[in-house]
Amino acid sequence: MNIKTIHTVTGAFGLSGRFIARRLLRENLPVETLTNTRPAADPFAGRVATHPLDFADFPSLVRALSATAVLYNTYWVRFDHSAFNHETAVRNTRLLFAAAQEAGVRRIVHVSITNPDENSPLPYFRGKAQLERALRETGIPHSILRPAVLFGDNAILLNNIAWMLRRFPCFGIFGKGNYRIEPVHVDDLAAIAVAEGKEKRDTCLDVKGPESFTYRELVETIGRAIGHPRPLFRLSPKIGYAIGTLLGKCTGDVVITREEIQGLMAGLLATSAPGNAPTRLTEWLVENAKTLGTVYQSELQRRASPPSNRRRFGAA
Ligand SMILES: NC(=O)c1ccc[n+]([C@@H]2O[C@H](COP(=O)([O-])OP(=O)(O)OC[C@H]3O[C@@H](n4cnc5c(N)ncnc54)[C@H](OP(=O)(O)O)[C@@H]3O)[C@@H](O)[C@H]2O)c1
Repeated sequence: MNIKTIHTVTGAFGLSGRFIARRLLRENLPVETLTNTRPAADPFAGRVATHPLDFADFPSLVRALSATAVLYNTYWVRFDHSAFNHETAVRNTRLLFAAAQEAGVRRIVHVSITNPDENSPLPYFRGKAQLERALRETGIPHSILRPAVLFGDNAILLNNIAWMLRRFPCFGIFGKGNYRIEPVHVDDLAAIAVAEGKEKRDTCLDVKGPESFTYRELVETIGRAIGHPRPLFRLSPKIGYAIGTLLGKCTGDVVITREEIQGLMAGLLATSAPGNAPTRLTEWLVENAKTLGTVYQSELQRRASPPSNRRRFGAA
């Protein structure tokens, strides 16, 4: 049996994966990544070996994980699209778990979402619940982490709210905007992920910052912080989605989906668990007020880097 020493992070050039890899490197642990992205500039200066996240080649996944002690799984897709979808992401993640099992990976730290539910009509929350069960059924010791929404660096949601507040004279809120949303800093999630990588017990925990907002409060807080407080007006989810679609045509992105609006309005991005991450969004906003939202962050552009940089869109 070979010795397992490697900490493998999926998507180490992405958002949460990059912060997890950075923290592991700071502890002088050997880090590798499974990814289909090759950034123009390597943020780790060659310290993170890369393997393709190639779900069509199961033996290569097993080989890539053969020396892995802990797998940190961030792989997922944000919405259903012609090039990728939740159903495929569920299938692919099951393959990843099976490869980890075959390779003898000792522990998996898996990033999920608040309020996953196998009976949810929303494929994001349903798929995440299916995967939590699939992970438990592997018998591999694991930690499941459930953040609601990430902030920090170039995280999309908060950045793009700020981008809209900077550009438009008013801001439409879906319904009353009284549903809660509980952001957590991506580096706090990474710290918890790395700590959980050292644990032995199976666990599942919500990951949330010290502050909770209604959606309306969140938009107002961001607007004040960046110096663009805007009048807010109520929109029906249908009209909000139509405006989001129009904005998507202008930006070449999917700004928001019907399902994301439904999840948000159903309060699924908040939980009753106590906060366990230290960074306050309000303080982070003060420090990042000058840059937040100055550039639109496009999910599709991130996924559509040149073919030489990207092998596939997660197709099995
Ligand atoms: N971002 C948030 O606000 C948020 C909130 C709650 C929960 N989460 C969860 O946190 C985890 C990580 O989120 P993140 O924002 O850090 O993700 P990310 O960096 O954008 O992507 C994480 C991984 O998923 C892969 N991936 C993402 N979209 C893909 C697509 N359309 N097709 C194929 N592969 C794709 C990436 O592949 P490459 O390595 O090839 O780029 C990477 O390996 C996810 O499980 C997500 O559900 C995120």
